[in-house]
Amino acid sequence: TPFAGRILVPGRPGLPLPLRSTAPLPRPYQVPLPLPAVLRPVRTDATTDTYAITQRLARLRILPGLETEAWTYGGSYPGPTLVSRAGRRTVVTHRNELPQPVAVHLHGGHTPHESDGHPTDLILPVGWEMRHPYGMSDMNGTGVTTLGERTYTYPLDQRAATLWYHDHRMGFTGPSAYRGLAGFHLVHDDEEEALPLPRGERDIPLMITDRSFAADGSFHYPALDPAWGTPGVTHHWMEGVLGDTILVNGAPWPVLDVQRLRYRLRVLNASNSRIYKLELDPQPPGGDALVQIGSDGGLLERPVRHDALALAPAERFDLVVDFARYRPGTQVRLVNRLGSGTTAEAMRFDVSGAARTPADETAVPARLSTVERLDPRRAAVTRTFHFQRSEGVGWTINGMAYQPGRAIATPKLGTTEVWRIVSDFHHPVHVHLNPFQVVARDGQAPGPYDAGWKDTVDVLPGQSAEFAVRFTDYPGRFLLHCHNLEHEDMAMMADFVTR
Ligand code: C2O
Ligand code: CU
Repeated sequence: TPFAGRILVPGRPGLPLPLRSTAPLPRPYQVPLPLPAVLRPVRTDATTDTYAITQRLARLRILPGLETEAWTYGGSYPGPTLVSRAGRRTVVTHRNELPQPVAVHLHGGHTPHESDGHPTDLILPVGWEMRHPYGMSDMNGTGVTTLGERTYTYPLDQRAATLWYHDHRMGFTGPSAYRGLAGFHLVHDDEEEALPLPRGERDIPLMITDRSFAADGSFHYPALDPAWGTPGVTHHWMEGVLGDTILVNGAPWPVLDVQRLRYRLRVLNASNSRIYKLELDPQPPGGDALVQIGSDGGLLERPVRHDALALAPAERFDLVVDFARYRPGTQVRLVNRLGSGTTAEAMRFDVSGAARTPADETAVPARLSTVERLDPRRAAVTRTFHFQRSEGVGWTINGMAYQPGRAIATPKLGTTEVWRIVSDFHHPVHVHLNPFQVVARDGQAPGPYDAGWKDTVDVLPGQSAEFAVRFTDYPGRFLLHCHNLEHEDMAMMADFVTR
């Protein structure tokens, strides 16, 4: 198997490994929430916006008094935010000045195979030679490797949504993303802009991650010892990682000052393995503080109100929170009910103390959009995928470790299929190319977080979930995988081929 020869690290089988920082951690709520800069195009014409990103090492200030060497898109973590218009082509040239190969995937993008950032389509670092790098001998010659640079073309012929881009290199996505390779890519369209939702400075992306830090401030990750990634050195076996430091937009437990107005919060769980249950504390009188207006694939038909939000890796929830429901001066913490100690807190919103209630021109309409229902009874085929840990093989789908070039399914373009996922542990299951609609959990109705178009669904331990997916266009090779990044790296991934 491609993952033989890896070393078992301590931990409980099947469960992510808790990582303790040896660096001193700051007290929460000492730093303002950073907002990733919006990237400017290098060129723009009637149909296309063109961008350039250099992936490089950067020394970041995350913890007080220490520096953290990160792998970055353009020098920052998170990377710069790309903002696109639905239907306008976005072209991004990535240059790799990092010490290792990379592959860039636009998560949630409806992207043809050539630009999908398939894990075997590598960009080798500038200065390397064209050859199969270490660990890629099992690629079956399926990838298209480029040297130094690669240009990705995104048609973005899709609805307004919160997408994100991240590394997707086969076998190394966990450590690469952990080291900083992730950023937002927002898509806007006319339908969304016609709604009176909060915008501009009150439309805020929140990338939530967990990390741990070594005493010198560097990222602590089991496979990130100094020799990690060097050709000839084996990679560790991983079940997942749980950091003890919560970062929001790259800052530990930050604070955002808010007015007593509505804010749109685009929450992304970009953690490798951690699942959150987020809640505002205190809750406003009457509860239902988190008004969900969108999910992975854009606007919901109608808002869904929540007291708490369960969020697995790669899921996005688009929320509106009305801070006018709080008294002036209230400090509202965003807490994580699944965490303990330092991981029970995420960030804080400090509500303005001004006594006068400002006028709010925004609203959450009772009807947001039209979501066409996929009818599971009209599915061309139902397929079952078992996501499970197979002793001695790895994290597998239907008992198989990932093998590039082997198609687990060959959906026909223009048809709808039902995919049934059966799961042993928590597996946030992600499908490339087309979004899906959850139609059942354990044979019952979908859950409170399943509304709308999704591209990632958390299938709970010992349970099943079914979703309907319509493959519309773009023939080629795409991916089905677990978005627990260590499960993914340990081979819980499969190609499917549309035709
Ligand atoms: Cu967010 Cu295939 O990944
Ligand atoms: Cu998994």
